[in-house]
Amino acid sequence: MVKTRKPEGITKNLTSYGDNEFSLYIRRAFLASAGFDSVDLSRPIVGIVDTSSDYNTCHRQMPEMVAAVKRGVLQAGGLPLAFPTISLHEILTSPTTMLFRNLAAMDTEEMIRAQPMDAVVLLSGCDKTVPAQIMAAVSADIPAVSVVAGPMLTGFWRGERLGACTDCRRFWASYRAGELTKAEIDEIEGSLCFTGGTCMVMGTASTMACLVEALGLMLPGGAAIPHAAGRRLIHAAAAGRRAVEMIREGLTPSRILSKASFSNALVVLAALAGSTNAVIHLLAVARRAGIDLSLAEFDETARRVPVLVDVKPAGSGYLEDFFHAGGMPALLKVLSPLLDHGAATIAGKTIGRLIDEAPQPFGPTIRPLSDPLREVQDPGALAVIRGTLAPGGAVLKAAAASPGLFSHRGPAVVFESPADAVARIDDPALGITADHVMVLRNAGPVAAGMPEAGSLQIPRYLAARGVKDMVRVSDGRMSGTAYGTVVLHVSPEAAVGGPLALVSDGDIIELDVGKRRIDLLVDDKELAARRDRWKAPAPPARGYRRLFFEHVLQAEEGCDFDFL
Ligand code: FES
Repeated sequence: MVKTRKPEGITKNLTSYGDNEFSLYIRRAFLASAGFDSVDLSRPIVGIVDTSSDYNTCHRQMPEMVAAVKRGVLQAGGLPLAFPTISLHEILTSPTTMLFRNLAAMDTEEMIRAQPMDAVVLLSGCDKTVPAQIMAAVSADIPAVSVVAGPMLTGFWRGERLGACTDCRRFWASYRAGELTKAEIDEIEGSLCFTGGTCMVMGTASTMACLVEALGLMLPGGAAIPHAAGRRLIHAAAAGRRAVEMIREGLTPSRILSKASFSNALVVLAALAGSTNAVIHLLAVARRAGIDLSLAEFDETARRVPVLVDVKPAGSGYLEDFFHAGGMPALLKVLSPLLDHGAATIAGKTIGRLIDEAPQPFGPTIRPLSDPLREVQDPGALAVIRGTLAPGGAVLKAAAASPGLFSHRGPAVVFESPADAVARIDDPALGITADHVMVLRNAGPVAAGMPEAGSLQIPRYLAARGVKDMVRVSDGRMSGTAYGTVVLHVSPEAAVGGPLALVSDGDIIELDVGKRRIDLLVDDKELAARRDRWKAPAPPARGYRRLFFEHVLQAEEGCDFDFL
């Protein structure tokens, strides 16, 4: 029997003055200055995490969403109080938003814990904002509803439909290969991000939105509604109403999340051919929830689940096509035989019930199991690779890679850092050929906050000769909108002395995706000598970056802080 929770409203989390009655009295006094009286203050409180920011174009219409959530909360008899937290925009944050995901999670969790609120509605969207809020909500464990900004609508350039950011990368690669002029790339720049909202391909933002819905922490259908649509505001208002109901039901994340929820999320991730970044984020959320989840389960699930969603970068469509095809409810319907129907959701119904109520897909963007976009095969959409170069594991997005490179042996060309790659990659003196394996190290969590630098550009002179893909290996990440045969998240990373730190130019690296191996073919004696010469990097002098350096976990553990 689940205990229901009594709203505590304004009496919750009293400021510590050594006299609780005084704390409450003075709290009411200050709230009166904002126009709240005893009628308002007798209601349960729903906090609304507002991550709108002039620096976050993906959340451009979030103020309207906040207003819609407030409307829903009021309709249901609650008192809505919005508050800001750190907002992370993927493109306007240096060196990478991943460095700040845990900071955003801490900010959100601590503000939920510190302020009076009985439930929280989490407004996020751009890449790291979604996992940061879910990590926070799981740790704070009060009733929580996730609402994402939703994807941008697509734009057009000279009659061609396009969107951020798979097309950004495709056109940029063409420009680097000399196939587009400066004037043309400037024109394209003006068409890639047609509206506010998150990237409208199956990048990290869209993948995470879908996974949060699959985990049961979002109302049905919320993941794919376009940012600009009125339906987005209707969904936000419904979330506000639902948050009030959840207070009385005591429906916290710990009552929603289970091994079944994560198993379902892994099935959805494979069917979406979603972002590799989701691997890290799901591991982090599961760790917070105290649920065992291993890298191996991602590989095992991907081997038995076909890719069903025809959206870039693995397919050809965009998120608005996925939305019009029925979005996540329709995808879950198709995936029904592969899902655990008993998993709970914030809707107050099991996933099985939601599947019963969901429509079949409309149109071809969500394929049936009998006619998938990519058959069940080995490797699946995502492969977990290990070997002497990655004893702790690494990840390859096989669905966006070149099968012709799945078995490849070539000499290494090593870049010491993302900055080194920028400085030297186009230098013809390096003599890089299409057979080389490009290695980027010191892009891992400890070294650099794990930027999305792993998908190194094809050297300009090779691109001009028509080379579209090469094997690349990195302890960094790559954008969910990117593609290529890129072995990512290599663990342990170079900065903690992983084997990647020991690679020299010309060493032979062998990738065998069939065997899930990546090996450095250098004898042990030579590697031992190199290890003796290796020096660990010095920690940053102070502040958050020092904290991050000292406490961030490796990729296979989700890159959370060890003390969280
Ligand atoms: Fe915000 Fe892509 S930059 S979702």
